[in-house]
Order: sequence, then C-alpha cells, then structure tokens
Amino acid sequence: MAVRISFLNQKGGVGKSTCSILVGAALQSAGYQVQFEDMDPQGSLAMWVSHVGKLAPLPEGVAPDVIICDTPGRIDVSASSPDPFFRDLISRSDRLVIVAEKSLFSTQASIPMIESVKQFMSPTARAMILFNKVRRRTLVGGQNEEEMGRDLGLPVLKNSLPLAAAYESTQIQGFSVVVSKNRERIFSLALEILR
Ligand SMILES: Nc1ncnc2c1ncn2[C@@H]1O[C@H](COP(=O)(O)OP(=O)(O)OP(=O)(O)O)[C@@H](O)[C@H]1O
Ligand SMILES: [Mg+2]
Repeated sequence: MAVRISFLNQKGGVGKSTCSILVGAALQSAGYQVQFEDMDPQGSLAMWVSHVGKLAPLPEGVAPDVIICDTPGRIDVSASSPDPFFRDLISRSDRLVIVAEKSLFSTQASIPMIESVKQFMSPTARAMILFNKVRRRTLVGGQNEEEMGRDLGLPVLKNSLPLAAAYESTQIQGFSVVVSKNRERIFSLALEILR
C-alpha cells in the first residue's frame, strides 16, 4: 500500500507546494515510485511536475510506493462545519505534514488546521509540523522547536528547511539546483516524514 503524504495549511504561501515538490523529487531520485496528486486548483504541483521537473509519470501497472499530495490554502478548516473534501483528504492521508513558517504568527494561524487534523486523521496516520523558511539567526528563528511543538500538540520534524534561494529556484529550475547541504537536508527530511 502506498504511503500518502499530504502537505497542509489553510494559510497561503507557507511552502506547501515547494515542500511537496522537494520531498517528492527527492524520494523519486532515491528510487521510490512516486505519484504526484495536486488537489489545489492553482495547479502549482501538477504544472511543476510536467513542465519544470519533467518527471516521468509512473509506468502503467506500476503501483506507487508514495503519493505526494499538495493541497490548497483557502479551505474551510472550522471544526464545526468541516468541508467534506478536506475531511476526506485528512482521513485518507498516512502522513499529515503541516507546513508553517517558524513564527508566532504562522503557528497561531495554523492552529485551526492542526485541530482539524487531530480530529479527522486516521488512528494509524502520523501528523507533524514542518518549519519552513527558517532564519536561524533571528530571535524568532531561534525559538525552541520542541517547546513550540508541545504548545501546538504535535511533534516538530527535526529537519526544518531554511529560507534558501535554492529552494525558491526549484520552481523554475527544477530539483537539480538543490545541491550539497540543501540537498542532503531534503533527503533527511523525506526519510524522516516517511519512517
Ligand atoms: N524554504 C524556502 N526558501 C525560500 N523560498 C521558499 C521556501 N519555501 C517556499 N519558498 C517560496 O515561497 C513562495 C510560496 O511558496 P509555495 O507556493 O510553495 O507556498 P504554498 O503554501 O504552496 O502557497 P499557496 O497557499 O498559495 O498554495 C514561493 O515563491 C516559494 O518559492
Ligand atoms: Mg501551493
């Protein structure tokens, strides 16, 4: 059975599509059979896979090991009247990666999503927070991640992603522009999500 990894946050611009691309491309280059599913009408992931990354679709009859699912911002995450699309998406995911910037404002804005994930996720799934666009040298970027995770009630992935020009460049130049430490970090992140 394929492991479905969904990248989520109703907050826009936190890096859901970028992290979907990076993790999916890393797993594919490590030999996993990866299927990409773009649930966002903006279509960033689908466009990237076919036109920028030029990733070959899975050959017919080959079952995926991993399904990478990019999801839209702007979805109703209110626990009282959850969007059925969103509820279904959460319940079918094996890994729920809530992408947030490492800031008080971004984590606060992610709370409704975190609560909905906890409410609707399958008992066998794993939910986690991925800090993206981290600037370590600032006071905000240096905050203790374990403590932040405890406050939010979900574990924080050890492999966070810094704000890095290479990660931004993937959207027009593909995964090959991510090299050395930045590339190693993506592989570690992908395996940490998967395990
Ligand atoms: N770690 C990073 N370092 C530098 N730039 C980044 C990083 N992650 C994302 N970006 C940039 O931030 C912008 C927003 O990223 P992205 O489109 O992935 O966010 P999103 O959460 O998918 O947005 P939306 O909610 O609109 O779908 C993009 O220009 C992207 O290249
Ligand atoms: Mg997106």
